[in-house]
Amino acid sequence: MTSPITSSRQGDILILTSDNPPVNALGAAVRQGLQAGIEEARTDDSIEAVVIACAGKTFFAGADITEFGKPMQEPSLPLLVDAIEALDKPVIAAIHGTALGGGCEVALACHYRIAVPSAKLGLPEVKLGILPGAGGTQRLPRVAGVEFALELAAKGDPVSAAKAKDAGLVDRLAGEDSLLADAVAYAQEVAAARPLPRASAKTLTADPSVFEAFRNTNAKRFRGFEAPAEIISVIENSINKPFAEGAALERQGFMKLIMSVQSAAQRHIFFAERKASKIDGIAEDIALRPINRVGVIGAGTMGGGISMNFLSAGIPVTIVEMQQEALDRGTGVMRKNYEGSAAKGRIKPEQVDQAMGLLKPTLALEDLADCDLIIEAVYESMDVKKEVFGKLDKIAKPGAILASNTSYLDIDEIAASISRPQDVLGLHFFSPANVMKLLEIVRGEKTADDVLATAMALSKKIKKVAVIAGVCHGFIGNRMLMPRQIEAMKLLMEGATPEQIDRVHVEFGMPMGPFQMSDLAGVDIGWHRDPTRIESIRDALAAEGRWGQKKGAGFYDYDEKRNPSNSPRVAEIIEDFRKQTGTPQHEVTSEEIIERTLYPMVNEGALILAAGKAQRASDIDVVWIYGYGWPVYRGGPMFWADTEGLAKIVAGLEKHGFEVAPLLREKAEKGEKFNK
Ligand code: 3HC
Repeated sequence: MTSPITSSRQGDILILTSDNPPVNALGAAVRQGLQAGIEEARTDDSIEAVVIACAGKTFFAGADITEFGKPMQEPSLPLLVDAIEALDKPVIAAIHGTALGGGCEVALACHYRIAVPSAKLGLPEVKLGILPGAGGTQRLPRVAGVEFALELAAKGDPVSAAKAKDAGLVDRLAGEDSLLADAVAYAQEVAAARPLPRASAKTLTADPSVFEAFRNTNAKRFRGFEAPAEIISVIENSINKPFAEGAALERQGFMKLIMSVQSAAQRHIFFAERKASKIDGIAEDIALRPINRVGVIGAGTMGGGISMNFLSAGIPVTIVEMQQEALDRGTGVMRKNYEGSAAKGRIKPEQVDQAMGLLKPTLALEDLADCDLIIEAVYESMDVKKEVFGKLDKIAKPGAILASNTSYLDIDEIAASISRPQDVLGLHFFSPANVMKLLEIVRGEKTADDVLATAMALSKKIKKVAVIAGVCHGFIGNRMLMPRQIEAMKLLMEGATPEQIDRVHVEFGMPMGPFQMSDLAGVDIGWHRDPTRIESIRDALAAEGRWGQKKGAGFYDYDEKRNPSNSPRVAEIIEDFRKQTGTPQHEVTSEEIIERTLYPMVNEGALILAAGKAQRASDIDVVWIYGYGWPVYRGGPMFWADTEGLAKIVAGLEKHGFEVAPLLREKAEKGEKFNK
């Protein structure tokens, strides 16, 4: 087998170039090739310095994640980086694309680092539930300071080459198109420099209080995760232990984390997210429909949020409302949102006008005639949707994609009502649509392949994680939410309190529990259709105007800053319902709450999977991670069920009288998992 590393010479400079698509991951063959190259440089007296560079779109983007859990092939990455640093001739890292994880660690072991301005550097291991295990936690603080190292390694977000240069992680910026030539020139310049700047040899002093301060500032962000705490503690070693000792402890921490369920879960999601974009039965190179202008019908919260996604991506949007006042209000909210982002430094001030400049507000549906994709975000009623689609059928240009943002309604019924069902699909955005990463792309019975593929490609442009869902009530996410909400209400009737159920969910790692979610979404959803009806605790709350956070009262009471407190009035309402219905009471435990609210979600997931409404179990996990904040360190409901053991889930469901989904039972009996 040919090595992915080629060695070439420019005068007395040895150039080692890696060509291991797609991202130059540091797999065994790459490590072996680099080791051989370093050995060549060590033994060949005619070589004065070495440049390590990569072909293709990026510098090494990290260790090869697919090798994790398999027997290690020599040389290990820590051994390789030590060998690079130990070479007694200068080694220069020539960085473009992304130098991530092990790739950044290779760069740190090099004596000099030169990068193109567009490059990014980072230690994203924390996002895989592990820590930088090839000296990164010890070299980076020595090179760029403890605070920079904490930010980079414990949060995992990469930084630009310019920021890396300010911090000392990059020594020099190259021309965007002259990286190799600039790196070789750099190598010639430093060929005779001695002593070589070795990161491991630097001594570091830092104020020990920064660690505690960093832990405290980020406590909320790190809640539930094991890796950040471990990363902070190994970085702490860089100031109070010699390099070798710190590196050995880093290795121990790495080995511990890589065996953890959390890391398995986070790696599962890394691959699940990428797999989700692959559509069964559709070739990856299918010709896409051009999308140069998007139309959005409805300038309410959803329509406005949806529009912002496209505007932010530079795609012009025509937004339609029925009344001038509603249109003005909607576009005003969008502008305010952009201004808020600018004030927080998330976007540049000039981007507010740039984005809003791409928006064309109108009262005339006919103005959608030049749109390539039209998304309706109107009132959730089949009749209203059909009426809108009927009009679009006449207005939209041939080949325009017609999408509904419905959360529950039957896309096939909508499609069947017009003359071009092949152009219809669901694009289910999650609220707030400009923030939430998830997009359910609902595949109708007649949706054309290129329509689906175009929607998937577009989702990447607007930075969403998209999952294909089949037509069914609530698609993937909301369909699984239903059994959870129903059981949560039953538990209230049987003796639990909203706070108890919410606490169990938050301790599990969810951002909020079922009742906190109801208060945020609106307790009155669905109630307005018949305000005289008081058949449930929810109805009773809605009838009293306890519509949730927006009214300062729902399942909880809220102060002006929307801080919740337990509500004696809600306790009374619950008690009334318990008495009226004569529901037998018992003491509800945390275990019962988990079994009765989360196990039925897994059960529903199995039904969805068996019915082909999700392409794969991992897609369901992606929906729950990105749409509802399921803790990523538990890998989504289906992965979590695998780790709990499917037999345990089945037994729990049976204990509480649920009908077990046949696919779940079958897998449990065979000792199989949802995610292989
Ligand atoms: N190992 C193995 N495969 C990888 C990989 C890695 N480190 N990084 C990416 N890939 C694969 C992806 O799975 C994908 O495969 P597919 O085409 O079969 O789906 C393919 O490469 C392309 O990846 P993306 O679709 O993500 O391509 P993008 O261009 O959107 O993004 C990227 C490129 C920014 C490099 C992104 O892939 C990424 O963030 N990769 C992970 C980086 C990372 O986490 N590195 C740390 C690894 S752990 C480590 O280094 C441990 C060390 O400290 C010891």
